[in-house]
Amino acid sequence: MNLFDKPPVQTRFIDSLRNNDKVTCYYRVQEVVKKKTKNGDDFLDLTVMDKTGRMPAKIWNNVDEYSKLIHAGEIYKISGEIREYKGKKQITVNHLQATTAGDKEFNPADYCEAPPFDSAALQERMFALLAANLTNPHLRQLVEFFKEDYGPSLQQAYGAQKIHHAFAGGLLQHTCSVLEMVLALAPHYSLDKELLLIGALFHDIGKISEFKTQPALETTLEGGLLGHVIISLTIFLNLKNRIADFPPALATHIEHLIVSHHGEKEYGAPEVPKTPEAYLLHILDLLDSRMNIFCEQLKNGDGQKLFSEFNQALGTRILLAKQ
Ligand SMILES: [Fe+2]
Ligand SMILES: [Fe+2]
Repeated sequence: MNLFDKPPVQTRFIDSLRNNDKVTCYYRVQEVVKKKTKNGDDFLDLTVMDKTGRMPAKIWNNVDEYSKLIHAGEIYKISGEIREYKGKKQITVNHLQATTAGDKEFNPADYCEAPPFDSAALQERMFALLAANLTNPHLRQLVEFFKEDYGPSLQQAYGAQKIHHAFAGGLLQHTCSVLEMVLALAPHYSLDKELLLIGALFHDIGKISEFKTQPALETTLEGGLLGHVIISLTIFLNLKNRIADFPPALATHIEHLIVSHHGEKEYGAPEVPKTPEAYLLHILDLLDSRMNIFCEQLKNGDGQKLFSEFNQALGTRILLAKQ
């Protein structure tokens, strides 16, 4: 290959990339932010994605030119090298080029993220669990309305933009996980299982409209101004108001579970948990998010290092290899 040859475009999906790989591939830029290094130099902090996942990308050179060229949501031809940073692989971009109508080498469907599991089957299991464990007719009707209005979008929704369950299907996986733990622990503490199941189902549903992921990852107007706790509360109230004679005290307890699930006011909870059910939901929500951070970190490690870099959310480094 001489200097004037362009490197051939490979098809390397994100889940197959390894440390030190050199790639020239198509990826969708999901997010682009101009930032400054400690020395005050500009750089571009990107998130790129394909159907197998997401990966951070950094551009250190020609920042002004690239920041004019790159629009979040579009697919680019990216050349660079995979480097592990803080336990996660990322791509250091050497060259990035806009795709044109003539670029027929990629299939756009490869750049829409799909859940890494059968989300329709998981959702069916979730609604079957609810049907088997709810006897209160008002709550059963509430779940029916939820299924009709939010079932389809829940199958694809991310659980977060970053930190935990940040992938298509993540919100469903997190919701199911909390539901299953409720079924295991509510009887242990003699708590109101039906109330807790509804709290688990609704607690994060507002994330469906807190941010959008296609074509670009972005906080919505509603998400930025209200946050998912208040959006979840509004969704519950709207569905509940369609049910005649919904018991007011039961509604208030469900509302309390939703508004207190972040546990503390500095973590966005309008109220702290004041019932044992609300406290358990908060702990299960926290537990599931933390365990997912461990899982993602272990998945992203390349097996060469014993410990990860410092993980902000967990407040420590994680043991990556079994010893
Ligand atoms: Fe939440
Ligand atoms: Fe949650």
